[in-house]
Amino acid sequence: VTDSPKLSRRALLGGSAASLGGLALGFAGGASVYEARADGFLGSSKRPFFGRHQTGVVSAPTAYARYITWDLNGDVTKLDLIRMMKILTSDAARLTQGLGPLADPEPELAVFPANLMMTVGFGRRLVLIGGGKGKLPSWLGPLPPYPMDRLEEPFTGGDVLLIVQSDDPVTVAHASRVMVRQWEPFVTLRSVQDGFRRAAGSAPDGHTMRNLMGQVDGTKTPRPGTDDFNRAVFGVGSKNSQPDWLQGGTGLVLRRIRMELEAWDRVDRPDREKTIGRTLETGAPLTGGSEYSEPDFEAKNVVGLPVIPDFSHMKRARPTTSEEVFYRRGYNYEVPHVVGKSGEAGLLFEAMAWNPAQQFVPVQNRLAELDLLNLYTTPVGSSVFALPPGCQEGGFLGDSLLLH
Ligand code: HEM
Repeated sequence: VTDSPKLSRRALLGGSAASLGGLALGFAGGASVYEARADGFLGSSKRPFFGRHQTGVVSAPTAYARYITWDLNGDVTKLDLIRMMKILTSDAARLTQGLGPLADPEPELAVFPANLMMTVGFGRRLVLIGGGKGKLPSWLGPLPPYPMDRLEEPFTGGDVLLIVQSDDPVTVAHASRVMVRQWEPFVTLRSVQDGFRRAAGSAPDGHTMRNLMGQVDGTKTPRPGTDDFNRAVFGVGSKNSQPDWLQGGTGLVLRRIRMELEAWDRVDRPDREKTIGRTLETGAPLTGGSEYSEPDFEAKNVVGLPVIPDFSHMKRARPTTSEEVFYRRGYNYEVPHVVGKSGEAGLLFEAMAWNPAQQFVPVQNRLAELDLLNLYTTPVGSSVFALPPGCQEGGFLGDSLLLH
């Protein structure tokens, strides 16, 4: 059996109903991967491209994600931006459905989308060129500087972001290369960051991922498809001051956070658990129960100290009002050791919020002031993007900004 386009067309036809069913189930119960596997194979799983929201925002994360940022060339016009977004839309609409884009010299590499999603983000400069000052969301720009930041130029800022997510790394590489090649006349590449979670199928469904410090990471955050998620990410039901073009879209804070694993190696298990306020084994709060039990921040130990330390990451990060809730998603990253330069590991941290200044910044301010986790982590990259809404067939990503 080879992955020839001929085989794939048949396999995809057979697999598509199963994948759609799996996706629907995925929202309800998180069973997408298993459903798709039952009837076909993971590579044939497809997620829809067109819709009210970009699929990568509202869908369960895949095993792999690549974050590519570019700077727009100095002479790029609004017309160029329209061209770029039309190319992206046409290519992504095909690639996500297992079809090679027009003029792709390697269309065979497109046949197994494996839940491919391609999500675009706009930096401040792109919105200014594409829509002018009147279209700029108030929060779209760099975050305030923080004392623990050691930001590296390539991983900070950028005018355009593309997030390529899939359960297959070959698919990620191919879809990324298509866009890097297609956009070359308009942009200069700034950074490529690869992230990973557990391979699809290697852990039970609904399992919360572990980061490279070994912690259960992603427990307390709104789930896609719920009212809490729609409120936090799209401002549904709150007084939403998003510009019209961004309704159905959201804000993204992307931080590259290095883990100081040599320092972490010297910390014993009880102190590791106190750093977060949760156990390492199950991710349950230190005050007992299981992963999803509510922590008891008032509980004291025998010597009268809080069981969950006041300086723990969970205590400090917990929203103090409903306005501080955002959607949090992480991908691990690892840069292997090469001769002369030691390796690096960390977290590609994403916060999605319709207004990051209101929802994310107060939490980040509190963590910058005090958080035991700061002893073992260092932010080395930071960017803020507007993720436009999805588009309908016949339209293109960003049309609400660029056609008005
Ligand atoms: C490498 C950096 C980081 C690591 C390793 C990390 C790890 C964790 C872990 C293990 C938890 C507990 C389990 C969970 O609910 O997911 C957690 C919770 C949380 N983290 Fe982080 N985190 C990091 C950075 C950040 C940053 C930069 C922010 C925001 C500015 C943040 C905000 C939160 C929030 C809001 C919670 C949930 C708190 C609650 O229980 O309500 N984290 N993090």
